[in-house]
Amino acid sequence: MKVGIVGSGFVGSAAAYAMALLGGVREVVLVDLDAKLARAHAEDLLHATPFAHPVWVRAGGYGDLEGARVVVLAAGVAQRPGETRLQLLDRNAQVFAQILPRVGEAAPEAVLLVATNPVDVMTQVAYRLSGLPLGRVVGSGTILDTARFRALLAEHLEVAPQSVHAYVVGEHGDSEVLLWSGAQVGGVPLIAFAEARGRPLTPGNRARIDEGVRKAAYRIIEGKGATYYGIGAGLARLVRAILADEKGVYTVSAFTEEVAGVREVALSLPRVLGASGVEATIPPGLDAAEGEALRQSALLLKEAASALGF
Ligand code: LAC
Repeated sequence: MKVGIVGSGFVGSAAAYAMALLGGVREVVLVDLDAKLARAHAEDLLHATPFAHPVWVRAGGYGDLEGARVVVLAAGVAQRPGETRLQLLDRNAQVFAQILPRVGEAAPEAVLLVATNPVDVMTQVAYRLSGLPLGRVVGSGTILDTARFRALLAEHLEVAPQSVHAYVVGEHGDSEVLLWSGAQVGGVPLIAFAEARGRPLTPGNRARIDEGVRKAAYRIIEGKGATYYGIGAGLARLVRAILADEKGVYTVSAFTEEVAGVREVALSLPRVLGASGVEATIPPGLDAAEGEALRQSALLLKEAASALGF
């Protein structure tokens, strides 16, 4: 099955690399304004395939997206050190206004997977501009934050991350909400598991893990200029879930009619992901503080989208 990636920068090329390593994709087409960059990434990636999975990677134009089941939108400018994701909005909305009509013409049946930041508002922009059904426009949202939350909890508890079920919802950004109250490890409520494990989650440990999740991107960007391995792997995992009609639950971003009393906003919630994109949204269990934090996150995103006219 064919996947298109528009934007062959750090994130788009890392996603293509992760698809080759993860498997499940037969053909990847890289599209970029800088055709030379796309060609170079395609050639380099092709040389990885004998060590990974047989996937045909090539550079192409928008017309080469024809027949793609998923098109990843990773085009746009990335955060500079210290810059918030929302500060990228004006520039990247203009990029989407240029590329979406060309993607829609070439691959009208594809699920759009938005990675460009600020990913939640960009998901709303893509939904509005594409005119596609709601579930067919998906944003990577807080899948990376959920992964970071699980990884840091697993490290603290000395258990495998796969045994930790904990979610981050809301904005993929400073107002994101870590759902401590509903988190479980091996089916046991998190706090009880931590006590039983002899690794209690004290207020200090919780603050450290919260900061570790919420500020991860700023630290990584400060250190190496961009993040790409985590988001690249996350995008490849979402592509695999869509192509396999997996119906897995992921905290992805999508336009949402109403959440926490806020109407018509795109943000991350636990959602069932399959061949047609988002098939269902599952209202998460929230305590009062988490519910209010989610409401504030939704209001912030709605204000940013409204200011842009979306
Ligand atoms: C990060 C980018 C993908 O959080 O926003 O690493």
